[in-house]
Amino acid sequence: MNTQIANKTAQALSKTLSEEYVLMLKTQNFHWNVDGPLFFSLHKLFESQYKELTGFVDDTAEVIRTFNVKAPGSFREFQKMALIDEAPADLLSAHQMIEMLNKDHMMMSTRLKEHLEDAEVAGDTSAVTLYEDLITFHDKAAWMIRSHRA
Ligand SMILES: [Fe+2]
Repeated sequence: MNTQIANKTAQALSKTLSEEYVLMLKTQNFHWNVDGPLFFSLHKLFESQYKELTGFVDDTAEVIRTFNVKAPGSFREFQKMALIDEAPADLLSAHQMIEMLNKDHMMMSTRLKEHLEDAEVAGDTSAVTLYEDLITFHDKAAWMIRSHRA
């Protein structure tokens, strides 16, 4: 395997891990803090989504390790690499949470499609499979969230 290409895949995976971790924490934050008429539905939906993201975070770190590259695992590293914004400190309305997470999931899907193409070119099958699963998850998550729009 070409080392340079393998490192490129591991770098993209490290960025993905950081983004997914930030999105996981944001989703858990909204699971805790959502209120209003949509409380029960969104509280449950956000719970299932942050739990799924926990699994993906772990899978991503383990694929990084198959390249013999250290997996990032601190908030400092995640913040440096993630393009996704953390949840703001202010309390948001359910409507604001819906719009923010819908946008985040759609942006993730777009970025992961670029990483998927690169991993395909490099022939990194584990990364390709992971990206395909992640894209499916984000597309479905965005749909389920925006279906709560009034
Ligand atoms: Fe909970």
